[in-house]
Amino acid sequence: MSVSKKIIGKVILAGDGAVGKTTLLNKFLGKTEEEVKITVGLNIQSASYEIEGEREIKSILVFWDFAGQPQFRFFQQDFAKNPFLVIFVFDLTRYKTLINIEKEWLPMFKNDGKDAINKVLVGNKCDLGKTIQEDEIRRICGKYHMKYFEVSAKTNKNVNELYKFIKKQIFERVKGT
Ligand code: GTP
Repeated sequence: MSVSKKIIGKVILAGDGAVGKTTLLNKFLGKTEEEVKITVGLNIQSASYEIEGEREIKSILVFWDFAGQPQFRFFQQDFAKNPFLVIFVFDLTRYKTLINIEKEWLPMFKNDGKDAINKVLVGNKCDLGKTIQEDEIRRICGKYHMKYFEVSAKTNKNVNELYKFIKKQIFERVKGT
């Protein structure tokens, strides 16, 4: 007999202003082209899906899309608590946005000793080419144990692969319960 269960996963999108977090989120949610405005503070959206298998599990991903502009940083620490997964997004054409992942964004998500926080690094805007050294990306991924995806939220390149990975993380968690 199948057991019905509901899993809620808090997924945070973090990264500097204009790296493409909201555009990426809209792609995950299947939203059609619309004007993307600068995020003020925080933008919360959710998506639900069923995990196939013996048990019927309804999973809800709640996306917390953090505004990237520095003036919103002061209160985001409070909302950074207990994420299931953090997606760190940088712009492949702006080196500073990668540096800031290490300097500004990663320290916001210190493990509080409970569940480990899953992290993934995303280089966005690959349609514009890449001006950042591979070595630097590899160094940061290795140091912080992050898987890496190179995507374009504009052309959709690798966006489905990234979304599949996010959903798989939830699936793995369900298997472990
Ligand atoms: P904040 O709200 O400031 O935190 O920005 P954000 O990270 O949410 O960025 P947003 O999604 O608002 O995108 C910023 C700009 O980059 C917009 O003009 C997007 O259309 C553009 N953009 C987003 N993703 C891509 C991409 O993959 N390629 C290109 N060429 N442009 C992109």
